[in-house]
Amino acid sequence: MKKFSLLLIAGLMVKFTSAQDTTVVATGGGLSTTEIVVLAGLIFTALLVIVVYLMLNTFKTLIAERNNPQPLVKDEKVSWEKVEEKKSNFWEKLLSLKPISAEKDLELKHKYDGISELNNPVPGWFNFLFYGTIVFGVVYLFIYEVSGIGGTQRDEYLTEVTIAEAEKVASLKKLGASIDENSVKVDQTPAVIENGAVLFGAYCKSCHGEKGEGTVGPNLTDEFWLHGGTVNDIFKTIKYGVVDKGMVAWGKNMSPKNISDITNFIISIKGSNPPNPKAPQGVKMEEKEEETL
Ligand code: HEC
Repeated sequence: MKKFSLLLIAGLMVKFTSAQDTTVVATGGGLSTTEIVVLAGLIFTALLVIVVYLMLNTFKTLIAERNNPQPLVKDEKVSWEKVEEKKSNFWEKLLSLKPISAEKDLELKHKYDGISELNNPVPGWFNFLFYGTIVFGVVYLFIYEVSGIGGTQRDEYLTEVTIAEAEKVASLKKLGASIDENSVKVDQTPAVIENGAVLFGAYCKSCHGEKGEGTVGPNLTDEFWLHGGTVNDIFKTIKYGVVDKGMVAWGKNMSPKNISDITNFIISIKGSNPPNPKAPQGVKMEEKEEETL
C-alpha cells in the first residue's frame, strides 16, 4: 500500500507541474505547440512501454502459475502455512494476483450449471487509475473552475489573440505599413536611397527615364511639379497615382515602406540635371516649400 501511495503522490506532482506548464503557455512565454505535441508523444510512448511491460509480466506470471499450479485443496504434502507465508512479489501485488491455492476462499456461494464465480480483488493498478482520475478531477476542477489559477479555454484563446494582434502590428510596422502621406519623412540614408533606386529602375524608368529625366511621365529632377514636390506630395502621387493621365496608383501593389524609399530616392535626384531632360511641367516649387522638405 505504501508503494501505491508513493505512486499516487508522484502522479499528483506530474499533474501539478503540467498544470503550471499550461499557465505558462497561456501567457505566451512557455512551450510552443510543437513542444507540447512532442512532450505528449513522449509521455504516450512511455505509458505504452509501461503497459506492454505490465502485460508481458502478467502473461509470464500466469504461464508460471499454469505450468506449476499451486494445489487447490489442502494437501498433506504442502504446508498450508508456508503457502500463506510466501511473500507475494511486486507483480503479484500490483496485479492483485492470488495464488490458485487461495481460490477456495475466493469462491462465491452461488453456482450456475456447476460454474462458480471467483471474487478476485480489484487489481492495484486499476484502483490506482480509478482513484487517480478522481483526484485528477478534483484538482482539475479546483485549478480551472474554483480558484481561477488556470486559464479557461476562452482565456487562453483571448491571450493568444492578443499576442497574435501584437505580432501583426509589429510585422506591419516592419513593412512600414504605418507610413502614409502624412507621416512620411525625408530620409536620405544610403540604404533607403539604394532601395528606392532599385525600385525606380524596376517600375518607373519606363515612363520617367533612367535618371528621372522624364519621357512619357514628367521630369522628376527639376523644380517643376504638377502635383507638388514636398515629400508628402510625392508620396501621395505615387500611392494614389494620376490614373486618368497614365500614372499608376502604386499603393495597391507596393508596400508603404517601398513607396517611402522611392519618394526619398526622387528627392535625392532633385537638381541632378540628367541629359535629355523633359521640358518642365507644372509649377515651380516655392523656396519656402522647399525648406520644409
Ligand atoms: C505608365 C507610365 C508611368 C509609370 C510606369 C510611372 N509613372 Fe509616374 N507619371 C506618369 C505620368 C504620365 C505622370 C504625369 C501625370 C499628370 O500628368 O498628372 C506621372 C507623374 C508622376 C509624378 C508626379 C510628378 C509631378 O510633376 O508632380 C511622380 C512623383 C511620379 N509620377 C512618380 C512615379 C514613380 C515613383 C513611379 C514608379 C513607381 C512612376 N511614377 C511610374 C507615368 C508613369
